[in-house]
Amino acid sequence: MTSVLTLAGVSKSFGAARALVDVDLEVHPHEVVAVVGDNGAGKSTLAAMLAGVHQPDSGAVLVDGEPVRLASPATARQRGIAAVFQELALCDNLDVVENLFLGHELEAGPFLDEVAMERQAWELLDQLAARVPSVRMPVSALSGGQRRTVAIARALLGDPRVVVLDEPTAALGIRQTAQVLTLVERLRSRGHSVVLISHSTADVQAVADRIVVLRLGRVNGVFDADAATSEDLLAAITGAAPAAPRTRRPGAAPVEGGPR
Ligand SMILES: Nc1ncnc2c1ncn2[C@@H]1O[C@H](COP(=O)(O)OP(=O)(O)OP(=O)(O)O)[C@@H](O)[C@H]1O
Ligand SMILES: [Mg+2]
Repeated sequence: MTSVLTLAGVSKSFGAARALVDVDLEVHPHEVVAVVGDNGAGKSTLAAMLAGVHQPDSGAVLVDGEPVRLASPATARQRGIAAVFQELALCDNLDVVENLFLGHELEAGPFLDEVAMERQAWELLDQLAARVPSVRMPVSALSGGQRRTVAIARALLGDPRVVVLDEPTAALGIRQTAQVLTLVERLRSRGHSVVLISHSTADVQAVADRIVVLRLGRVNGVFDADAATSEDLLAAITGAAPAAPRTRRPGAAPVEGGPR
């Protein structure tokens, strides 16, 4: 099956910090690929690269097998890749509809088409089975999980093929986490591919098809979610071997109290 999105030998440094080193990643159609790793492993850098925020120093990004240069977030969106970052970049004082359509408002002649935008907002949130009390509420009045849903809904407006979610469950309670994970499953069933970035091995085991472990900027294991145990993942995350098939840096010191 052709990958929708491929990273081939991608590296990225910030000064002396090697954020990504020779990273390979494949995202297939209708697939949830999780990327897990400890703090500083390179996860957000990977997300930013897929979203056109950062460009690789070396290596290639391919869309449908064709090399592309994702020079900006706008270019990435044109290529069908949308991302939701941890700092959601919502405007607190604006309501849900205004946030969803910010920068691409629907117009009716010289006026904004508020009715159409409100209808589309509800349709989108319904499709995601999102529970938001009112689309005319300022997003500052929403819960953390609801805000995250609004940010994800906004990413879906251009109907991207790949949705990149950077730590979508961070700092959420149990119920809200479950809601976001259900939403990820819904994205897949609607035909999107998802790159799910997370600290939580439990979260990714619940929804991912494949799990890629990053450690110190390198891929330190790729697992079928069905087959991987929490111990396998933790070992790859911390570098405490037993080795995954693609482990490249075995035997490094384990990190205390790694994420579960
Ligand atoms: N803009 C930047 N300038 C300088 N260094 C950076 C920048 N972005 C990331 N880094 C460095 O790159 C490495 C990877 O950072 P990154 O944010 O990708 O990790 P992460 O896996 O997302 O971590 P966390 O789990 O804490 O979010 C870190 O060493 C970080 O300090
Ligand atoms: Mg991060």
